[in-house]
Amino acid sequence: MTLDEKIGQLVQRAGGRSKALNSRLDDAELERVRQGGVGSYLHVAGAEPLGRLQKVAIEESRLGIPLLFAMDVVHGYRTIFPVPIAMASSWAPESAERAARIATEEATAAGLHWTFAPMIDIARDARWGRIVEGAGEDPYLGSRMAVAQVAGYQGGNVLRPGSLMATAKHFGAYGAAIGGRDYNTADISERTLQEVYLPPFYAAARAGAGSFMAAFNDIGGVPTTANRDLLRATLRERWGWQGLMVSDWGSIGELLAHGVAADRAAAATLALDAAVDMDMVGGVYADDLKDAIAKDPVRLKLLDEAVLRILRVKDALGLFDQPMAYHDIEREARELLAAEHREAARAIARQSIVLLKNDGKLLPLDASKLRSIAVIGPLATDGLSSLGSWRAQGKAEEVVTILQGITAAAPATLKIVHAIGDDERKEPFNNIEAAIKVARRADLVVLVIGENFDLSGEARSRSSLDLPPGQAELARRVLATGKPVVVVLANGRPLALGAVAEQAPAILETWMLGIEAGNAVADVLFGAYSPAGRLPAAFPRATGASPSHYSANATGRPADPDLAKDTVRYHDLPITPLYPFGFGLSYSEFKYTDLAQSTGKIGAGERVDISITVENVGGVASDEVVQLYIRDPVASIARPVLELRGFKRIELGAGQKKRVTFSLTPDQFSFWSARGQWLIEAGRIDFWIGASSADLRASGSFEILKTHAGTVPATALPTRVIVSNN
Ligand code: BGC
Repeated sequence: MTLDEKIGQLVQRAGGRSKALNSRLDDAELERVRQGGVGSYLHVAGAEPLGRLQKVAIEESRLGIPLLFAMDVVHGYRTIFPVPIAMASSWAPESAERAARIATEEATAAGLHWTFAPMIDIARDARWGRIVEGAGEDPYLGSRMAVAQVAGYQGGNVLRPGSLMATAKHFGAYGAAIGGRDYNTADISERTLQEVYLPPFYAAARAGAGSFMAAFNDIGGVPTTANRDLLRATLRERWGWQGLMVSDWGSIGELLAHGVAADRAAAATLALDAAVDMDMVGGVYADDLKDAIAKDPVRLKLLDEAVLRILRVKDALGLFDQPMAYHDIEREARELLAAEHREAARAIARQSIVLLKNDGKLLPLDASKLRSIAVIGPLATDGLSSLGSWRAQGKAEEVVTILQGITAAAPATLKIVHAIGDDERKEPFNNIEAAIKVARRADLVVLVIGENFDLSGEARSRSSLDLPPGQAELARRVLATGKPVVVVLANGRPLALGAVAEQAPAILETWMLGIEAGNAVADVLFGAYSPAGRLPAAFPRATGASPSHYSANATGRPADPDLAKDTVRYHDLPITPLYPFGFGLSYSEFKYTDLAQSTGKIGAGERVDISITVENVGGVASDEVVQLYIRDPVASIARPVLELRGFKRIELGAGQKKRVTFSLTPDQFSFWSARGQWLIEAGRIDFWIGASSADLRASGSFEILKTHAGTVPATALPTRVIVSNN
């Protein structure tokens, strides 16, 4: 390969000039491909146009190296599933895997080899707009969701022909942006980095994610795109990961703005040194890497390594042997929006709904007792918002909107009327009066409020977690009518609900549920399905109370409700979040009994089995999410007051009970020691089993017998869970 051909492999170009999809490239672009100047395209799609493009690469370029086609297939390709924070609310990694598998079937039929997903950044500040794209605040839940999605996309833990290569992004502390402002610095301790932000990435690396994406931001002054310690020493050398590292959009060039490179050649050198293999869109490698290498030919070896990693990925996907396998037009037509894909989207969407409040058992609605329902709010008919921010090839007109879903599910005797209210971002609010009139004439109001899809996502950070003003005003006026109101929240982040949470008798968190949003919401409203989603991130009482994650360290002055005591809390707010991590109600009720454990002491390599019986005593078939939390009460480092270490979503018919057994090893209690190593310390571990981080039903403890070195982050390891009927 010539130097130009090698550099060409490192170049990823966008199909369109903006982020819009465009697979039909102009002559100049095709000439670039013929010259071997491109390794990959992103934001392209379609079996036929991409097949033609691939042919140019393999038949008309000197070396005939196939191109890699990439897209952000984040929660579906054409069949759009719930946004990731919603899918995490299902606490069903198997469903996330299924959604990723279906997305893969569609996307690989449409010419794609590579997705920029899963996004596995831990997010504890809901002001950060990208919290919608991940699994929330917790590294254990986040790791399970990460592994499930990698498995779904790739069809196993190694890349193979037919895989959609997964990308673990945005490595490593993008979600820790100060103030929740997207792209901002993360200034966190090494311990927090290792224990909270990196475990999902470790888990994804172990699960065989073919690629990683470096985050835009810097950690303590080191921009990740140039972070050799993290990208080379930690990920490649310590973790042994051998995949393809792609920069984020233009982030090599942004090293100049960070102020760590004086010119583009210096930026290219820094990124290459950090083992960033592919330059997404920025054109820095394309234009300036040659100069950088001319100045220091030693870097030729680093270039060769990067090229080799890219070629290896292409080979693993089967592109050298069967370059046209991803371009089967008939398969594309069959796969996209197949009936069973829609069915899965509905099933997963209803699993993702969280019941936050249900005073007087207002839900499920008894349709036989109602003559009319007013569905109020602009989001009830906003199909685009149901699709969420990464909608790939999803189409708004294919969405079952919330209004359509409710209308379809209502019996003929029940009249459904609708009023928009107002767009949440524009004042003055002229349409509220009309909506109130409609509300007054109905027996009950379903008020669909929250955030339009483009209030969350990339670069969509907000300084306030309050409902947008138009939505808040609409809610205030509707609640003042005195009608029974069911609030259906549709939004991309935990919100500070304020008066709505106090006054509305029933609240469902539905996030953005994808193409089957309306059917899923109707299933839950009318009781065809009992909600069992659980929050993957706490809802703070006010913006200023954020972050309010459950897994905070013990302090010298633990929070006390007694305001006369000076403790770690705000004076003007209760000490708890409004809705805690792991929280969600059900139409049924569950009893936890007969806690047992196999042993009181475990040595290195041994296991303790903790079992509990969960019984559905509420008379309604429903899932329950059984959660295991732990605490290391005395250690050489102050440990969090509670940490999730296991969970299982189980199905229980009315009156049915099941026995759930969590099996733990000492490795799952390691922490990042004062010496900067994983360490498992001898001593007591307390545990709790319950229905949320604030609803702990049974507890016990055991002892770890021996202090010894650990090798991996505790939360990256899965807890074995066995469910049996009894
Ligand atoms: C985002 C990435 C995304 C990429 C390509 C960037 O702006 O940060 O998450 O994969 O664009 O669309």
